[in-house]
Amino acid sequence: MEKLEWSESLKLGIVVIDYQHRKIINIINELIDEMLSSCDIESILSMGDDLVEAVLHHLDYEEKILKEISYDDYDTHKEIHNQYIKQTNYFYEKIRHGDISSIGEFIEFLKDWWVYHITNEDIKYKDFCIKSKFN
Ligand SMILES: [Fe+2]
Ligand SMILES: [Fe+2]
Repeated sequence: MEKLEWSESLKLGIVVIDYQHRKIINIINELIDEMLSSCDIESILSMGDDLVEAVLHHLDYEEKILKEISYDDYDTHKEIHNQYIKQTNYFYEKIRHGDISSIGEFIEFLKDWWVYHITNEDIKYKDFCIKSKFN
């Protein structure tokens, strides 16, 4: 499984958001490393907790900004975030109950979701943000 590479295409040009996205990408890469090496369930769950913390912090921060700049697609964007949380909860529950075989599927989901979300959804608010004080 290939790791994610932080590149120009993932940068929005909004310093704090880019920092948070990069942190999330790094944790996903650590999960890939762990899966490919020992695949220790406790380590994976602990990295999963780090990921949840970083993601919830990021989604909350992003939603606050979108609200403050009166982003016109706020509701749709928030709903996409909510769907992500539901989907990851589904995977977490499976893994917590010992379903090791779903770890690979979960990591593929994370990789696809974050690359798609940043480059197709978050990119839509970039100009709104850059015109405002949040940059
Ligand atoms: Fe987002
Ligand atoms: Fe984001």
